[in-house]
Amino acid sequence: MDIVREPQKWQQILRDYRRKGDSIGIVPTMGALHAGHRSLLQRAREENQIAAASIFVNPSQFDNREDLTRYPVTLDEDISLLEKVGTDLLFAPQAESMYPDNYTYAVTEKALSREYCGKYRPGHFEGVLTIVLKLLLISHASRMYMGEKDWQQYVLVKRMAEAFLIDTEIVSCPTVREPSGLALSSRNGRLTSDELEKAPLLHQLLSSDRTIEAIKEELETAGFRVEYVEIFNDPELGSRLLAAAYLGKVRLIDNAKRTQGPL
Ligand code: PAJ
Repeated sequence: MDIVREPQKWQQILRDYRRKGDSIGIVPTMGALHAGHRSLLQRAREENQIAAASIFVNPSQFDNREDLTRYPVTLDEDISLLEKVGTDLLFAPQAESMYPDNYTYAVTEKALSREYCGKYRPGHFEGVLTIVLKLLLISHASRMYMGEKDWQQYVLVKRMAEAFLIDTEIVSCPTVREPSGLALSSRNGRLTSDELEKAPLLHQLLSSDRTIEAIKEELETAGFRVEYVEIFNDPELGSRLLAAAYLGKVRLIDNAKRTQGPL
């Protein structure tokens, strides 16, 4: 696997593959890769001639300094996972090369990015959309793979690509879960054993037919601090229950299809 650190070099390598007629699939990540990331990487491998990934802990999307400094970095393990699934190219840039402007330019989305998680994490989606736009522009991939685990992020990226007339298909991939139902996340490692036992309740309740109020109540009773549980409706993408809740210091998010039952 080739590891590239400079955006200019990345742009040039991918341009050469494109000129040869190769399709390119890219999986953007912040590293600390687990089986959730692996499923996206496998899709990219299966569906494209060139499978590419990026690892970049994007500072502009962290609304909380501590969260950024504590973000796990496991580059050696990440590289061996990427090689195992047959990834051809890894882009692992430094912050300065991705932000030559010192983040004076950013992508603003004025509606969905201000709801759900956006209400509680000001600036978060602006940071996400800005870095993803940069990755889309320098990669010019055929497909970009995003996890349903971060449903709001997936929808925002998909709509951004449409809004800016970007010729990359944004592909969603199902959430990979523990047998208990807990969505895999690099943050799960920060849960205590007691919290780990409670954590699967979030997914269990979101995929039940309970009302939003009942879900919130049960979560609070079990010791969660609920940020929100809300419905997301879209004529094309359907209805989902989206939620964020803290267990101790760890913020968990999850979502589930909602097809029936009163809210
Ligand atoms: P990160 O949290 O590393 O996630 C990278 C991709 O993996 C995202 O599309 C995310 O939805 C997906 N993913 C994470 N856990 C998953 C799981 N359990 N099942 C399926 N997919 C899962 O999301 C980001 O990084 C960043 O915001 C990024 C898009 C890279 C921009 O910086």
